[in-house]
Amino acid sequence: MQVKNVLLTGAGGKIGRAVLPELAKAGYQVRALEYTDGLKVDRLDNVEVVCGDLRDPSLARRLIEGMDVVIHLANVKENKELFLDANVKGTFYLLDACKEAGHIKQYIQAGSDARAGIYYYPQPIPIDENHRHSGYPGYYPLSKVLEEVMCEQYQIMYGMPITILRFSWVHDEDDILAHVTLSEPNLGVPVWKDWAVTAEQKAYFEKGTNAVACLVHPDGSAGKRQIVGIKDVVRSILLAIGNPTAIGEAFNISGPSPFAYDVLAEYVAKKLDLAVVRFEVSEFRDFCIDMSKSRAVLGFDPEYDIFRIVDDALEFRKAGRTRSVCPYPG
Ligand SMILES: NC(=O)c1ccc[n+]([C@@H]2O[C@H](COP(=O)([O-])OP(=O)(O)OC[C@H]3O[C@@H](n4cnc5c(N)ncnc54)[C@H](O)[C@@H]3O)[C@@H](O)[C@H]2O)c1
Repeated sequence: MQVKNVLLTGAGGKIGRAVLPELAKAGYQVRALEYTDGLKVDRLDNVEVVCGDLRDPSLARRLIEGMDVVIHLANVKENKELFLDANVKGTFYLLDACKEAGHIKQYIQAGSDARAGIYYYPQPIPIDENHRHSGYPGYYPLSKVLEEVMCEQYQIMYGMPITILRFSWVHDEDDILAHVTLSEPNLGVPVWKDWAVTAEQKAYFEKGTNAVACLVHPDGSAGKRQIVGIKDVVRSILLAIGNPTAIGEAFNISGPSPFAYDVLAEYVAKKLDLAVVRFEVSEFRDFCIDMSKSRAVLGFDPEYDIFRIVDDALEFRKAGRTRSVCPYPG
């Protein structure tokens, strides 16, 4: 498949800002959508920045003009007021414009492991691509399911060349340290403060003492989950673009393996010379992501295990870099 011109929505967001320079470096001519009310997009060679709002029904047609591939990342997270218009209708406008225009060679949709419920439901077997849609409660997972169902239908009804990349929780900058330590900024779920019940746990928050959280189940065993490093996410998008075997398929995009919170906590505690505090979180179920399809079909070989993700986060802090603005807490 010959691909030259690529439309990237959500170009100012967490994934967009990382993938944009790599698309330009790979020689694509990129049209990047900068949300009128949102994060700014870097001005780079080979990148045309267009400002707009995907809730505007007339925007999609103009955006896809002359494009070969659409990469749709733009999205709001947990937002009852906006999710239907920005995520569901925004995706519909793009899909429908592509169907009407007929010249788009590939439409890549950002999916999420949220569509499979991850830690919210018991997950006795690894989550593979055939796992049924079963988002956990919330407007964001609901929108990720609805977006995918629309994509599936546009593929079935109109033969649209669609690829869905289902990202796990994406870690960039010092996200993993923000998540696993008690001090601000806090990121992601669980929110440790909400699970502080003993006097010892509460004292850390009352005194503002930092420590590393270890998530445990009621039986005392450590929680397990799977996340993905931003560099692996970028690599997965580049592998999918113009790849004929990716057409009509959905792929899990996660790290090489799950991690256990006790292993993560010990590693971070040693690096930062902090104590480990155990938090019993009854609502958390272990899960892992089956990566065999994306490995076999896309040739995706994720490199960032939990230790590399932590090492990069420590480097980020050591270099005194400032976290990017994040419009949502996870
Ligand atoms: N970050 C993660 O951990 C993660 C995990 C799984 C899936 N995903 C998916 O990947 C995609 C990108 O996620 P992200 O983390 O980069 O998100 P982000 O919130 O960092 O960025 C989203 C981008 O969409 C733009 N946007 C919001 N509303 C818009 C509108 N009405 N019109 C045009 N643009 C609009 C924002 O300005 C921003 O640039 C999303 O579809 C998300 O569901 C992300």
